[in-house]
Amino acid sequence: MANGLTYIRRTTTPEATKQLAATLAPYLRPGDVIMLSGDLGAGKTQFVQGVAAALGTRAQVTSPTFNILLQYIDGRIPINHFDLYRLDEPEQLEDVGYFEAVDGDDDGVTFVEWGEKFPNDLPCDYLEITITTDTQGERRVRAHAFGVRARQLLFVWANDSKSRLMKMSGGSIR
Ligand SMILES: Nc1ncnc2c1ncn2[C@@H]1O[C@H](COP(=O)(O)OP(=O)(O)OP(=O)(O)O)[C@@H](O)[C@H]1O
Ligand SMILES: [Mg+2]
Repeated sequence: MANGLTYIRRTTTPEATKQLAATLAPYLRPGDVIMLSGDLGAGKTQFVQGVAAALGTRAQVTSPTFNILLQYIDGRIPINHFDLYRLDEPEQLEDVGYFEAVDGDDDGVTFVEWGEKFPNDLPCDYLEITITTDTQGERRVRAHAFGVRARQLLFVWANDSKSRLMKMSGGSIR
């Protein structure tokens, strides 16, 4: 449900998390930034896989844990997918092209896993998606907007995806 600037859904399968993520794709624009937080194995990469497929990327989206950045350019919008887990120093962010990707002017949409490791380097405008594991392996997916563009994105996503999700998920998204 859209509740102020926060939108919360629960998913019971990896496929449901991807389906939920797919509903975000139509509203994404170049320059958008999505910071994904949650424990190891929460489902952050699954979420990116769902968006990427819906944007028309045919390549297999894998975890950028070792590459730090993986890019997909064959969909409707290019995708930058960062995983900052293995970075230790904020100075390394410059080397991997993080700042160009999150400054709002990039040609692509940028997803960042483990961005919370560098709280002083968060962008000014981003949608934060936090995935937590509930009882029985269920995931709670919470979206919260920081900044004007993220608020707009969250507003349209939360409103428009509501009815479509009910039809397509067969009960695995609540
Ligand atoms: N409801 C669910 N949504 C998403 N993933 C789920 C769900 N239930 C089980 N899983 C499983 O949890 C795992 C999520 O893995 P994923 O690589 O997306 O995590 P991650 O948050 O990116 O972790 P990391 O921080 O290590 O990169 C997958 O093995 C997936 O099958
Ligand atoms: Mg991951």
